[in-house]
Amino acid sequence: MTQMPTSDVPSMGRRQFMNLLTFGSLTGVALGALYPVVNYFIPPRAAGSGGGTSAKDELGNPVTASGWLKNHQAGDRSLVQGLKGDPTYLIVEGPEAIGSYGINAICTHLGCVVPWNSGANKFICPCHGSQYAPTGKVVRGPAPLSLALANVSVENDNVFVSQWTETDFRTGEKAWWT
Ligand code: FES
Repeated sequence: MTQMPTSDVPSMGRRQFMNLLTFGSLTGVALGALYPVVNYFIPPRAAGSGGGTSAKDELGNPVTASGWLKNHQAGDRSLVQGLKGDPTYLIVEGPEAIGSYGINAICTHLGCVVPWNSGANKFICPCHGSQYAPTGKVVRGPAPLSLALANVSVENDNVFVSQWTETDFRTGEKAWWT
């Protein structure tokens, strides 16, 4: 006749088992409490965006390609709120095309927002005079690096910005911001 086990946790003392249970529930509570905090720092993904975030105008409204192209001429570089709300330039390549990359406007020297100067055909930082080519490639210091890039895509007329993880096409090197 086989003997029935007297406990479901034969190799673990009762105290150890209770400790484990307590630890498990405390961890669960802690993770549950952290979830909204973690969630806050992860930008929401718009449905159908292929992993990007919706570009927003200065009022926080989603940018549509048709609306943008109506008000911005070829060659234009104007700001939207991109990834994590970073000021990001959309590039208008023609009457019907928004460029497939955007340029993060934060100066790589000390973080000023760099305006586009269409007359000089450059981005010129007002803080310490760094200059960047129309692609955002640094052409004059003290900024040590080119402006960061982001991918831009248009789906159903909505404009999305997503992480640039590819090689930096301006330098042929790994993107410094990834
Ligand atoms: Fe742009 Fe210093 S912050 S040049």
